[in-house]
Amino acid sequence: MRISEKPVAARLKELGVELRAGVSLSEKTSLGIGGTTDELLLRKFETIPEVMRLLADEKIPHRFLGGGTNVLIDDGELPWVVLHLPTSQPGMRVEGDAAYVDAAADLGGMVTFCAKHDLGGMEGLIGVPGSVGGALRMNAGAYGTQIGSYVREVELYRAASGEIETVRGNDIRFDYRHTSFAPDDVMLRVKLELPSKPFKEILAGIRVCNEKRRASQPLNQKSAGCIFKNPAGGSAGRMIDELGLKGHRAGDAMVSDRHANFFINAGTASCADMLRLIDDVRERVHKNFSVELENEVILWKN
Ligand code: EPU
Repeated sequence: MRISEKPVAARLKELGVELRAGVSLSEKTSLGIGGTTDELLLRKFETIPEVMRLLADEKIPHRFLGGGTNVLIDDGELPWVVLHLPTSQPGMRVEGDAAYVDAAADLGGMVTFCAKHDLGGMEGLIGVPGSVGGALRMNAGAYGTQIGSYVREVELYRAASGEIETVRGNDIRFDYRHTSFAPDDVMLRVKLELPSKPFKEILAGIRVCNEKRRASQPLNQKSAGCIFKNPAGGSAGRMIDELGLKGHRAGDAMVSDRHANFFINAGTASCADMLRLIDDVRERVHKNFSVELENEVILWKN
């Protein structure tokens, strides 16, 4: 959707929004897939409610993009603009055993920053790509760690009230790759409470997780991590592997030959290719195991 030539563009500029016209979202996602639209960089948190009211008044559909590492975006000209928090120099500070981090910060960067202040617990999250905001929304987890366990407060823009609010950790439900945040809540900042641990010990834990990940996941290929959630008590990756589907393709979308729940863009895959592969694999798993796999990746398609 193009708004840069419309009168609303000037109003957005006054609110501190930087408008980038015709951005290809394939450059903003780890899958390297996604169509084109205008991007709005929200440089001032405090103006977000006003920006959102303006977009609603002007009937401009919009979506919030975080790190772009767990999303599959449609091809072609997209019917909504994309909002983005600036990622350069996101705020991070430590006070005692609490860390205050902007949602736009890189998740791994946050883990190492806290480690340098002798705050641990999040070693398992080190190789999970993405932003802190995305990790909060999905309750990102790996190797027995989930970010939700450490959340004490989240500052967010709540679309339902049109205000910036602070929500206590105890009032948020963090489940497996799911939280009680509303789909249109926008994460802004988080306060985490973390166990003290000497930096060297945290580093040793980080190394172990990095090695495990390197040994089992296709880290240097374009992917969105695991495509499906694990079914209760089962493993999506193992089932897909048992069906001999590693290397199976739809166009340039391919089941990784390293980890069968990672689907990679092996060239110039489109969203349509990736969706065909997802449907195909889901059907085969259903036919053979009577298990209905649920997407872990978030689909942006109208
Ligand atoms: N397996 C296979 N073949 C494969 C992949 C896995 O047989 O191709 C087997 C493994 O040998 C193991 C079992 O399946 O016995 C589970 O595999 P793994 O330990 O790799 O973990 P996972 O359940 O596939 C989950 C998360 C990952 C996270 C890892 C490590 C989900 C959907 N996936 O994967 O998260 O990194 O554990 O904790 O919960 C993500 O969320 O995007 C993600 C990659």
